Order: sequence, then structure tokens, then C-alpha cells
Amino acid sequence: MLLLPLLLLVVILPGGDNKDMFQWPTSYHIIPIWTFANSSWAQNQGSGWDSDLGTTIFLKSWSKGNFSDEEMTELQDPFGVYFIGFTRVVQDHVSEFQVEYPFVIQVIAGCELHSGEAIGSSLRGALGGLDFVRIQNDSCVPAPNSGSRGQKFCALMTQYQGTSNIIERLLSETCPRYLLGVLDAGKAELQKQVKPEAWLSSGPTPGPGCLLLVCHVSGFYPKPVWVMWMRQPGTQQGDIMPNADWTWYLRVTLDVAAGEVAGLSCQVRHSSLGEQDIILYWGHLAYIGLILVAIIVPSLILCICLALWFWRRWSYQNIS
Ligand SMILES: *[C@@H]1O[C@H](CO)[C@@H](O)[C@H](O)[C@H]1NC(C)=O
Ligand SMILES: *[C@@H]1O[C@H](CO)[C@@H](O)[C@H](O)[C@H]1NC(C)=O
Ligand SMILES: *[C@@H]1O[C@H](CO)[C@@H](O)[C@H](O)[C@H]1NC(C)=O
Repeated sequence: MLLLPLLLLVVILPGGDNKDMFQWPTSYHIIPIWTFANSSWAQNQGSGWDSDLGTTIFLKSWSKGNFSDEEMTELQDPFGVYFIGFTRVVQDHVSEFQVEYPFVIQVIAGCELHSGEAIGSSLRGALGGLDFVRIQNDSCVPAPNSGSRGQKFCALMTQYQGTSNIIERLLSETCPRYLLGVLDAGKAELQKQVKPEAWLSSGPTPGPGCLLLVCHVSGFYPKPVWVMWMRQPGTQQGDIMPNADWTWYLRVTLDVAAGEVAGLSCQVRHSSLGEQDIILYWGHLAYIGLILVAIIVPSLILCICLALWFWRRWSYQNIS
């Protein structure tokens, strides 16, 4: 059945000039999702565990932090009980909560290391994509605009005191201990700095007389990065995507009139680069293109003219 989730590290952007800010991932979250199709069919999924094999997936040697194998196994029990138990509890209370099948419940739960040593833990639950409850500092708080559902859920939590205590302990004791252990054990890898590579290309033309310029930035670590088409208001940033080698990739596009591309530049700022931003000029590519056109087109015309001339001479000679 369902077992312990794997690392799902969420990055917090280092802010301002605070040199003490952590530059590596500083939070740990699990994201279980329950799908209820009808009164007899429900499924639970989440990042990092394999519900069919019943095994926990540890991708890194330091994924267990400083927890022993025994401790990890012991931890899996309350998780299993919690996930299965929760499915039943929800099925038993569907009419009370006035929800209609099919519906989805999403949860994000974990802990976060703030600058200094303070650690905050929280759990947020959403029903049909809307927040309905939050558990923080030992208390269950209905989300604003959740109607009576949030309140009913918190009332239910007090009924299931045993489960509530387990959740509370996992959030406020186990998670911080695990997070600190992982941050320490994986320090070398989590604090590494890998420089990005950047290149420009043009994307599919958005319309007549327009160009889509694409600035690609790839292979960087850690995740926070700043990429802009300089002084251009229409810059659009995609999501930062993972590469297979634990580095990141980002593309930033710009929609411009074809006549206005010369001299545009894409600027990349990343902690691994220090003060040396990468700046790529679209103009350089365009100039190379112009030079090629300037050489190839006249050469072609010349060749055609020569060919015509020879052909006409040859036909005259044949006639005369
Ligand atoms: C419940 O949903 C599952 C999955 O969609 C489906 O296979 C099953 O037939 C449904 N059962 C009923 C009683 O509607
Ligand atoms: C939770 O507790 C921490 C530390 O005890 C405190 O800083 C934070 O403001 C509290 N959060 C809420 C929502 O009460
Ligand atoms: C693991 O690391 C945490 C945080 O540094 C510490 O509190 C704990 O005692 C260590 N050992 C175990 C077995 O958790």
C-alpha cells in the first residue's frame, strides 16, 4: 500500500542581500491526492511513493537524512493508517459535507526552515481545487470562504483525536528533525553551484510580421534564476523545469515586430555566475543572417545571369 513519500523539495528564493539566507532547498512537503470517483471507488496518489509496489523510493543516498532504516520503517505505519483511514472517513461523511461524486482532495503538508533556525509546519487541504482547511501550530483553521465545510472538518478532527495527535507529531516533530537531517546529509549536493548555459532561438511565428524570440537557460543549480529580455515589457517566462541530471531549465520568450529585433538582448543572472551575468544579443544572430543573405542572393543572381548569357551565346552559335 501507500508508503513514505520521497523528497519533494520546494525552493524558497533567497531574498535581498542577506548573505545568511539559505541558497538551497529549505522545505520538505508531501503532496497526497485523493480521487473519489463514486461511493465504492477511491484512489490515493502522491509524489515519491509507489502505491503498487508498496515501497519507498529513495533517489539519493542522503534521502533518509539521519534516520535509521528501522526508524523509516516505523514511520511508514502511521502514514499507511492515515491514508487508508482518511479515505474511509471521507466516504462516511460525504453527505454531511454536501459534496457530490466525483471529487478530488489535495493536501500539501510539511515543514519549512526559515532564516535562522525557526521551523514552521503546516498542512493545507483543498477540495475541488479550493482551500478549505489549514492546520498550523496545533490548531485547525477553516479557510476563508470555505463555508461550513472547513468548520465541519475541524470538528471531525477533534473526534478523531488519536489520528489528530499523530498528524500533529509528524508535522511538528518528525518533519523538522527529518528536514534538518536531510539538509545536513545532502549538504554537498544541495549547496552545489552549477553555471547555466544560455542560447537564443526563434519559435513558431505568432503572426504576420512578428517574431517569437526564445531565450533558453539550462543546466543551472540551485533553482532561483533571473532571466529577462532586456527592457522589453512583453517578456513571458515559462515554468522552471527539471533536467534529468538534477539541474534546471527555463525558457523566456518575447513577441516582437520583425523590424525591431536588432540589438535585443537576453540577460541571465544566477548565483553560480557571481556578478558576471550572461548577456546574449539577438542582433548578432540577425547580422550573421543578413551577411549570409547579402552574399548568397547576389551570388545566385550572378550565377543565373551567367548561365542565361552562356545559354543564349550557345543557341546563337548553333543557329548561325
Ligand atoms: C466507480 O468508479 C470506477 C472508476 O471510475 C468505475 O470503474 C466503477 O464502475 C464505478 N462504480 C459504480 C458503482 O459506479
Ligand atoms: C506558529 O508558531 C510560530 C512559532 O511558535 C509563530 O512564529 C507563528 O506566527 C505561528 N503561526 C500562527 C499562524 O499562529
Ligand atoms: C538527526 O538530526 C536532528 C537535527 O540535526 C537531530 O535533532 C537528531 O537528534 C538527529 N538524530 C536522529 C536519530 O534523528
